[in-house]
Amino acid sequence: MNPCIRAIVRRIISLGNRAFGIKRGFKGLIEGEICELTSRDVGGILHIGGTFLLSSREPRFIEKEFRKIAYKNLEKAGIEALIILGGEGSFKGADLIQRETDIPVIGIPCTIDNDIGGTDYCIGYDTALRNAVSAIDKIRDTASSHERIFIVEVMGRNRGFIAVEAGLATGAELILVPEERFPIERIPEEIIRSKKMGKLHFIIVMAEGYGKAEDLKDFLLSEIGEKYGEIRATVLGHLQRGGSPTHTDRIMAMKFGEVAVEALLSGEKRGFVAFRKDKFYIEDFHKAQEYKDIDREALRLNKVLNV
Ligand code: F6P
Repeated sequence: MNPCIRAIVRRIISLGNRAFGIKRGFKGLIEGEICELTSRDVGGILHIGGTFLLSSREPRFIEKEFRKIAYKNLEKAGIEALIILGGEGSFKGADLIQRETDIPVIGIPCTIDNDIGGTDYCIGYDTALRNAVSAIDKIRDTASSHERIFIVEVMGRNRGFIAVEAGLATGAELILVPEERFPIERIPEEIIRSKKMGKLHFIIVMAEGYGKAEDLKDFLLSEIGEKYGEIRATVLGHLQRGGSPTHTDRIMAMKFGEVAVEALLSGEKRGFVAFRKDKFYIEDFHKAQEYKDIDREALRLNKVLNV
């Protein structure tokens, strides 16, 4: 998000306007934490993960009385247009603000879950994938040396985007995702088949939306014990969400930022910046809720390469 904020602020200023940042998202909107940002304020943040404006989950924004306070704060600060970085929840808030105040609002898709409809790209996903791949590569060293079965749980909320791509990129013996549920009772036979083929380890990359790594470990222990290798479960957790952003994420974040600013200046009133097939579009906020499928072809490929 930092490279995106930097691009937004600098593009706004270079076009002769003033830029303001809101701390902690909707929380800062309610609490009036709005401050002017200069080009220098956004210097030196390109390579830093997270957001220097800070982030929070703010349930109060659902309540009209708190939204009214937020709108007063926007008016007080003289804000004429808003750019909101976030996922589906943030876009719901963005939609409400636009409808209730008539202030133009543009969203930018930012989530490691990559689950926003209408856009192929979500800022942060590439970095999370890089992190997951690098962690699984490291786990593989122990898995091979000790001839173990590893269950690696990755994030994604109720979707399997990270699991599919990180699993394929690391050559996981099995990828478990909620969208195409591999029957749990068939996992033991997959492990036995793999061991018979002479594989040293068996790595399962499992989306958190499929289940918990510890539960699967218990199931496997009860079904096959440790006859085919010791079983370990690792939850990658928030390791996936941090670290210096990849060059792809940085560049895409800057492009998304510029498109958002230009959309506002050209009179767009509402919607989010979407990226599909090498082109940017402004889509209605509702499109973000449309179902976007995982890469089933990648899942298939992983299976056929597992011989
Ligand atoms: O939506 C991003 C995400 O990282 C999900 O993948 C994960 O389920 C969730 O957020 C974790 O949330 P928290 O940081 O609140 O524990």
